[in-house]
Amino acid sequence: MVGQERLNRETAGKSISPQAEEFASRLGDMGASRLALATQAAVKGLHAFVAELRPSPEEFLGAVDFLTEVGHYADQRRQEWVLLADVLGVSALIEDQNSQRPAGATPNTPAGPFYRPYVPEMPLGANISRDQKGEPLVVEGRVTALGGSGIAGATVEVWHANAEGLYENQEPDRQPEFNLRGRFRADHHGRFRFVTIKPKGYTLPSDGPVGRLMTALGLGLERPAHLHFRVSAEGFETLTTHIFDRSNPAIDRDAVFGVKPELMADFRVLPGDGGTRKHSLDLDLVLCPQRQGGTETSGRI
Ligand code: BEZ
Ligand code: FE
Repeated sequence: MVGQERLNRETAGKSISPQAEEFASRLGDMGASRLALATQAAVKGLHAFVAELRPSPEEFLGAVDFLTEVGHYADQRRQEWVLLADVLGVSALIEDQNSQRPAGATPNTPAGPFYRPYVPEMPLGANISRDQKGEPLVVEGRVTALGGSGIAGATVEVWHANAEGLYENQEPDRQPEFNLRGRFRADHHGRFRFVTIKPKGYTLPSDGPVGRLMTALGLGLERPAHLHFRVSAEGFETLTTHIFDRSNPAIDRDAVFGVKPELMADFRVLPGDGGTRKHSLDLDLVLCPQRQGGTETSGRI
């Protein structure tokens, strides 16, 4: 491993700038470490960026001001740095790199900022809409292994936004505690079922520096309507994922790059009596076996 971590003095920083080259040489005199490797890669990338863009001193100070503001916006309730990584596609790339799954397994995606642990377990079939506001949605699914056999007793956590596109923890004074969140235990065949309301898509916060950057670039902050799932079972890798409404107009422009073909599903309208529309969703969530010596990396961001 240390061999892999060793800096390559010959190529690190070479031909990008004299300063990058000198930095690589100084770092090469120190012991090899993951930190040194990361710093070297960052210096290399930054110098390449500066060499290509040739920013003026004013532009450099503008970038410093932007990053300072990102820091000032980050607190316990809102992580503006993670939001920046999300909209630049970095969070999705890190998730992809750390959760390579075999073909057929449901892909992993970042959990995002709205997950809450310790949601009380509910019986199969329960309604997780605690304020009953929205069009009813019946979700039925199965947790399976790669070969298709059901995983008995798998834990299925679900959370999603309401019919206005807002999560319970974004407006704790307007929505009941744990609204649109549930934890279920799949039956002997890996099946689960719950009732909820159809979520609306939403836009990520636009009032901070990241939102202003995206607006200045003419890029959107939309997230197509989705349900989040986290599924865990003994002997299997925990899956954290989204299931998106295929018909949502924003399906091709998810601001955080979470949409994958395997994660799009059809929210079907149930035949009704002409009153409130009702919807149904059927899905399979496919887990892969825990890898020997593998670490649990799924959905931490
Ligand atoms: C979300 O809005 O649920 C989300 C945001 C960023 C990354 C992942 C999920
Ligand atoms: Fe979400």
